Amino acid sequence: MKEKLEALLQGALVELSTVSTEETLHELRVKYLGKKGLLTSVMKGLGSLSPEERPVAGQMANVVKVQLEERLEGILQDIRERDKEQKLRNERLDVTLPGRRRPVGTKHPVSLVIEEISEIFAGLGFKVAEGPEIEMDYYNFEALNIPKDHPARDMQDTFFVSESVVLRTHTSPVQIRTMLKQPPPVRIIAPGTVYRCDSDATHSPMFHQIEGLLVDKGITFGDLKGILTIFLNQYFGSGTGVRLRPSFFPFTEPSAEVDIACVMCKGKGCRICKNTGWLEILGAGMVDPEVYRHVSYDSETFTGFAFGMGIERIAMLRYGISDMRLLFENDLRFLSQF
Ligand code: PHE
Repeated sequence: MKEKLEALLQGALVELSTVSTEETLHELRVKYLGKKGLLTSVMKGLGSLSPEERPVAGQMANVVKVQLEERLEGILQDIRERDKEQKLRNERLDVTLPGRRRPVGTKHPVSLVIEEISEIFAGLGFKVAEGPEIEMDYYNFEALNIPKDHPARDMQDTFFVSESVVLRTHTSPVQIRTMLKQPPPVRIIAPGTVYRCDSDATHSPMFHQIEGLLVDKGITFGDLKGILTIFLNQYFGSGTGVRLRPSFFPFTEPSAEVDIACVMCKGKGCRICKNTGWLEILGAGMVDPEVYRHVSYDSETFTGFAFGMGIERIAMLRYGISDMRLLFENDLRFLSQF
């Protein structure tokens, strides 16, 4: 019995010395100490011993059992300690490393143009005004001297929300809203989104305009030309040629179309200016007395001018963009160039 137990202990210790995982350790625990384990079966043999031998052998078996249990527990602690250290090593985090930089976006070219133009007019004493994009037919047309059935309504393909509500086709209704809110003098610009049912390489159903309005005593067509020349020379560079052509808008009289010398060929003639040397930049004119009537301004005392320009067209000229749709596709390869 004694030899059997010693051999068993030696065999177990040899096997245990190669164990490296919790699973194999568990297998050995079952092999030796389990219900059908080797030590258990040796202990079952105690019954066949004589009463004198039995207590001695029993005590020995117990000593072996305790030794084995202690060894198993010791190895288990070692394995757990080793696994924990391995885990800590794998998950180590160097908190002194510099952070990863997040890519920073750029401003959209339409925003760039609006900001730059607003800044120039701020320098000329103009405040920014705003109005809704969903607008009353009355402010978008009627009060601007474009009554129902007026042929000028055909110039702009309108999105109707209802019979009396439209998506504004221009920023000019902000003129009306501003004059209804305050007495003259008025000196505002109104950047914003406008909508027309139109879509190709140079037209988008949603685009942006900047409106301007100046009303005071003694304002003349010369002031209109002066302010616009200062603005165009600041924005497109000093010495930029400016010319006014007679035109028509129902809400201004007289009206003008304002051109600048082509920014590409400097007036020589090229594909961009269709060989005319000039680029149409904005519409303008002296506010029509009929408009003053709708906002109860005294047209005998006050005069003024208004102008409106398309932002996308200016962005295209300024940054050499050939297709307006690029401005609305949100392709990062395009946008990140600004
Ligand atoms: N509202 C006009 C347009 O959209 C532009 C304009 C504004 C013309 C102000 C004259 C005065 O075409």
